[in-house]
Amino acid sequence: MNRIYLDHTATTPLDPRVREAMGPYFSEQFGNASSVHSYGRQAKAGLEKARGTIAQSIGAEPGELFFTSGGTESDNLAIVGAARAARATGRTHLVTSRGEHHAVLDTCAALANEGHSLSLADLDEYGRVDTELVRSLVKEKTSVVSIMHANNEIGTINPVAAIASAAHQSGALVHTDAVQSVGKIPVIVKDLGVDLMTFTAHKLYGPKGIGALYVRRGTMLDPLFHGGGQERGKRPGTENVALAVGFAVAVDLALRAMSEESARLAALRDALESTIRARFPYIIFNGDPSNRLPHILSISVDSRRMRLEGEMLVPNMDLRGIAVASGSACTSGSIQPSHVILAMGRDSDTARATIRFSFGMSNKEDDVGYVTDSLGGVLAQMAKG
Ligand SMILES: Cc1ncc(COP(=O)(O)O)c(C=O)c1O
Repeated sequence: MNRIYLDHTATTPLDPRVREAMGPYFSEQFGNASSVHSYGRQAKAGLEKARGTIAQSIGAEPGELFFTSGGTESDNLAIVGAARAARATGRTHLVTSRGEHHAVLDTCAALANEGHSLSLADLDEYGRVDTELVRSLVKEKTSVVSIMHANNEIGTINPVAAIASAAHQSGALVHTDAVQSVGKIPVIVKDLGVDLMTFTAHKLYGPKGIGALYVRRGTMLDPLFHGGGQERGKRPGTENVALAVGFAVAVDLALRAMSEESARLAALRDALESTIRARFPYIIFNGDPSNRLPHILSISVDSRRMRLEGEMLVPNMDLRGIAVASGSACTSGSIQPSHVILAMGRDSDTARATIRFSFGMSNKEDDVGYVTDSLGGVLAQMAKG
């Protein structure tokens, strides 16, 4: 059986060049980057070189980049850290959107339980957050506005630069989750105008378990952890040098290949979209057709035109060797329909019958025909049953 991986939004395989670069830091260069002897200095040099490479890739200074364990931790550190620091100045209100990843939504909800107030921006039919809507939600007391750069379920890109400029007029800090956009489209922090930005290595062929938070110089941020001075006190704990080195190589490789690879992925996505459109009239497409990431295609079976048990689409595709997602990887396994698809105004049966295809390095043109035929087989089987 053909096996096709179309879930690169959930995670990507490790690039062999990344693995090779990390190797020495798992063996002879094992030192603690805080140690003053030669072992420590060697580790420190690897860590700081990695920091420099990654910071440069997003147009930041090395001192503005903090290593974390991944996107989830970076989102938590950004929002909780900034909200707690701003509390001292009387700012206790947060703004985010209904389309955010749970790492942002649940973090904001946890802060609401601690006494912060929270406003949620609705999405439009394409899953976009409107700048004027955010402007209307921001108050004098707003501490943090967190709006994702690009959505992980549908690929829609938000107007983050305009949102940041609107939010700054009230003195709020702006955070963006750029986990899915870094390495796929240009992401330069100064152009986005954000104060805080999350990204992670394992979405761009780097290792799992390491991410970064960009913190604009001068931004007040309370740490989540206490106990050491690493990462200038913002994220104490012995640094994982090997993963940081791998992250840097992965970012560097992704940016070098970006324009060509993103165009290739967009062509594969467009080919799949047009074959699906031509063959299955009861399938609808989710996301912004004109402003979206190149590698994500989200489709739903319209419940008004075809009834089926939507949760079974992904397992049935898997039985045919095709790995896809029903929504965000972090919530799959749960039978709740995707909050993003619901927020775009789809009914819950349609939302349940959603498949997200996300292309990556291993995918080829031939995959498109096989995937469309398999989807046809799955739909025919499910319509009968
Ligand atoms: C938009 C977004 N934010 C955050 C995360 C969490 O990142 P990590 O898996 O590195 O914790 C993900 C992962 O799917 C994501 O897609």
